[in-house]
Amino acid sequence: MYITRRVEFSASHVCANSAFTDAENRAVYGPAANPRGHGHNYVLEVTLSGDPDPATGMVFDLKRLKDVLNETVVEPMDHRFLNYEVPPFDHVVPTTENLALEVWKRLQPKFESGRARLHNVRVYETEDLYVDYSGT
Ligand code: NI
Repeated sequence: MYITRRVEFSASHVCANSAFTDAENRAVYGPAANPRGHGHNYVLEVTLSGDPDPATGMVFDLKRLKDVLNETVVEPMDHRFLNYEVPPFDHVVPTTENLALEVWKRLQPKFESGRARLHNVRVYETEDLYVDYSGT
């Protein structure tokens, strides 16, 4: 069984690789490489898998899941400039792909034991663009 919780946060980023020249960054990332940055209202959907506890009927306490998402992702990233304020994006390009990977890395240890397992992380950068990551 799968349960999914959705949270939202807003953050700014620049998509540029410091190993590339300015021209290369513009060629690869387009306007997203502008050093002034730009913002997104990100939507994160985190899916856990597991069997419901026979006693509670729950795979995982959804209030606790919300708290975990707030502590590990929303509070550290909301209204931040990712490249300057949220490691590892000081040296990892904060594409949606890398954001999904980072969210996975932050959450995965929270679900190593117990009934629920981290199944999928989905990050929407816009409503018509999202990335799924389900681990290696
Ligand atoms: Ni962007």
